[in-house]
Amino acid sequence: MDQAGLEKFFLNGILVDSSIKNVSIEDIDALIAKLKENNVNFLDNASLKKYLQQDSMTEDTAVEIIKNYDGKTSASKPSDWAAYFNDRFNRLKTILMNKQTNGVTSIANLKNVPSNTQVSVIAMIASVSISPIKKYMVLDIEDNTGRYRALSSVINQEIVDDQVVLISGKKSKDAIFIDEITFPDSLVKDGTDVGITDSYALFLSDIHVGSKLFAKKEFERFIDWLCGREEEYASISKCVKFIVIAGDMIDGIGVYPDQEKELEIKSLAGQYEALYMLLDRIPKHIKILLSQGNHDATHIAEPQPVLDRKFGGSMFNLKNAVFLSNPYQVNLIVGNKKVNLLSYHGFSLMYYVNSIQKYNKMTENDIISIMKLQLKSRHLAPTHGSAQLIPLDRDYLVIDETPDIYVTGHVHKAAAAKYKETLLINASCWQYQTSYQKKYGIEPDIAKVVAVNLRDKTFQILDFMGEKVQISRKGIKEEAI
Ligand SMILES: [Fe+2]
Ligand SMILES: [Fe+2]
Repeated sequence: MDQAGLEKFFLNGILVDSSIKNVSIEDIDALIAKLKENNVNFLDNASLKKYLQQDSMTEDTAVEIIKNYDGKTSASKPSDWAAYFNDRFNRLKTILMNKQTNGVTSIANLKNVPSNTQVSVIAMIASVSISPIKKYMVLDIEDNTGRYRALSSVINQEIVDDQVVLISGKKSKDAIFIDEITFPDSLVKDGTDVGITDSYALFLSDIHVGSKLFAKKEFERFIDWLCGREEEYASISKCVKFIVIAGDMIDGIGVYPDQEKELEIKSLAGQYEALYMLLDRIPKHIKILLSQGNHDATHIAEPQPVLDRKFGGSMFNLKNAVFLSNPYQVNLIVGNKKVNLLSYHGFSLMYYVNSIQKYNKMTENDIISIMKLQLKSRHLAPTHGSAQLIPLDRDYLVIDETPDIYVTGHVHKAAAAKYKETLLINASCWQYQTSYQKKYGIEPDIAKVVAVNLRDKTFQILDFMGEKVQISRKGIKEEAI
């Protein structure tokens, strides 16, 4: 809930308990009216649930915001970049220190350590190279105190520039001979899981409204299915609580060369209006989480803020929409269950497809492997240049909390697999192959929706391309690699 929302309660004489200040409430005015009608002047978790449950359209679902970029900018001075990288390094170092504190030393302190001693340092990879003669992986590493060199006979393509890792090995005169490299990596969570009935979140992305290549017929079939006008898989459509759209809502203007030849609607406002007309047909009890991508009306540098009111127009009339930044992290709440969702449009995926040899086919496994690499690095774009960034004093692309679900889009493919306890999803697109994609041999997966049962995180991939809705794949695929 934002400051304006809190003020509304205050002005109406209703105190709000701090435990629900981060809960997103769909219709604050309606809730205030209901509370006043019942002479309630203190809103806590129990009363919120009671009064929301009375409204059958909202049911007992909510979106609790964990991380959402506030739109703050930076002058991009060298000192801003220094602060940005320091924040990233220190936060990832803290995650690694939680794994191992014994014997971890700083790079400056290595000079006091005799040769042949076992050492551990937490460092950022300044560069990775392969020695031409001995086929060693050579890492230049640095921390806040200095630079050093580390060597390994194992060439690991998942070691990339600017990752923060824990390096353990034997110190020689001017290098560490690596025994082990530890990534910050995902945490396996413990704790009891709260049971709920079947409740679905649907994951889609890259709608690209405004393009002549927008798969409108298929998208309308998806909406008809959601509205219960198709019999197939009604057991899913009846139980949908959330729709997550991971960016590239519209096709935008001037995003790639000669794009205007492929545009049906040639203004940003017109494209968002057309999107509004479609999303407005989705039943209002389903919450729609909307975030931006590189085709939307915002800057390309990340993090990207929520949709701007000056372009979004009628989109802000959607009572069931939750506008979020790229990336963002939220809890999807159903009853007493919270499902932690991380969403990132996925700009850096292309960088790693192009730069890591073993992933360059952009198969489903390649995409999942890169998402796994991001989780292992606990960063959405570890290598400087893999995405354009704003050097803020806090790095929004660090993954502080291991999510239950991590979704990306951007590469126009449908992919889903499990890594440790996180369900990884690349949501597919609603745009036929563009001239740009044809040039680079990218074959899009069109009109697929990943439906996740929040009860147990099983998934099914629904296909809206044919005359009837079909399931193209279901289940949980254990580690894709
Ligand atoms: Fe896209
Ligand atoms: Fe994109």
